[in-house]
Amino acid sequence: MTMNASRRIAQRLDVEAALLDPGAFPSDFRWGLATAAYQIEGAASEGGRGPSIWDTFSMTPGLTRHGDTGDVACDHYHRWSDDLDLLVDLGVQDYRLSVSWSRLQPTGRGGLNPQAVSFYHDLLGGLRDRGIRPLVTLYHWDLPQPLEDAGGWPARATAEHFAEYARLVVRALGDLATDWVTLNEPWCSAFLGYGTGAHAPGRRDELAAIAAAHHLNLAHGLALAAIRSERPDAAVGICNIVTEVLPESDDPADSAAAERLDASSNRVFLDPVYSGGYSAEVHAVFPELAGHIRPGDLELIAAPTDFVGVNHYQRLIASHDDEAGRLKVSDHPAEPASTSFGWSVTPDSLAAVLQRVSTEYSNLPIYVTENGASYDDYVDPDGVVADTERVAYLRGYLDAAARAIRSGVDLRGYYAWSFLDNFEWAEGYGKRFGLVHVDYGTQERIPKLSAHWYRRTIAGQSGHP
Ligand code: NOJ
Repeated sequence: MTMNASRRIAQRLDVEAALLDPGAFPSDFRWGLATAAYQIEGAASEGGRGPSIWDTFSMTPGLTRHGDTGDVACDHYHRWSDDLDLLVDLGVQDYRLSVSWSRLQPTGRGGLNPQAVSFYHDLLGGLRDRGIRPLVTLYHWDLPQPLEDAGGWPARATAEHFAEYARLVVRALGDLATDWVTLNEPWCSAFLGYGTGAHAPGRRDELAAIAAAHHLNLAHGLALAAIRSERPDAAVGICNIVTEVLPESDDPADSAAAERLDASSNRVFLDPVYSGGYSAEVHAVFPELAGHIRPGDLELIAAPTDFVGVNHYQRLIASHDDEAGRLKVSDHPAEPASTSFGWSVTPDSLAAVLQRVSTEYSNLPIYVTENGASYDDYVDPDGVVADTERVAYLRGYLDAAARAIRSGVDLRGYYAWSFLDNFEWAEGYGKRFGLVHVDYGTQERIPKLSAHWYRRTIAGQSGHP
């Protein structure tokens, strides 16, 4: 970067991006960044990796934007060491990553692929050597294709295969990571994967989506037990998307719609894990769920975790005239500001969902395991990516997180989504969430203004300005 460019970054940070008040966060707060395997690794046919549902989906014409695939993505599989150095430069203490199921267990059954174990061994060892704590997600949407061919998540057996995979991974890599996430956002896997078909495997069958929802919850419970038996000292949780849902008006019909939307987007995954079972509201929206629950399932799913992972992106507004009940996926377009996805920017929503989780669901430590925004970033002629909107977004949401802590929420850490621009699922490379810009032609990484801001924020809050 030129002198001119670094001077411009420094000026912009001073002028436009006030830091948070010193002491807004406890000095031991964990600051992190997050990614997922299929979104960054690339090397889709290297190292003995098998195909996952996202390979199949993205290679099917018309299903992802511009036909983008994760074949190369950020080429992190080959560049991981430099990427970890960059994490050090950014000053984070934690890094949330996922391991690829179809890399580690190419058919979803049998022993682990030694080349994949060796890759993740090096990666996690690299984090340990750099003093960065990994938070490892076992499933971030890359179901091995052979398991989809055998029925996918609507089939109960998939949950059992997942638990066995979790056991093997924790056995192989448990010396290098103590903190594990079973599933990432099972709502997306179930309802986008099998309901609307917007995500892999692209099925459109609401009944299959409902079966998948229960089997994903079960997969969490079975994997939790498997990890506990393998490594009693591991810290284990699940990351659920938690959305603020508000009625459009105080008309009782809108309130009822909001209740249904809350049941279908939040409660169907939060209730069984943290409240012992599906509530009446969830059964009312998904009456077919009951047919999938077998004796013992709910106890397994509700076994205590060690922390609550909250992924937060949106506020949803429900009104009685939309099909708010079961599968609504988009939010109200008329919110004050929005990201390039059209998602509203409403920082108070983060405070609201944290407050809700801590009063209604759990007194465990909470981590914001994902929060972030996509904007139409570009590299300017000085080589600077001046993503001032993302800086404002992060500042606003972190302010809200600090408010939640002051009001008593036991929030222990925050992982911004995402470390790098990456493959944004059906949106391909068209949506950029990174604090670090990736030039997909050259694989050059350029920390955006937001990355500089985040580094200064972390240093300020940790008492090392
Ligand atoms: C949540 C998902 O976990 C992540 O993979 C995705 O990129 C972000 N949301 C942004 O859509």
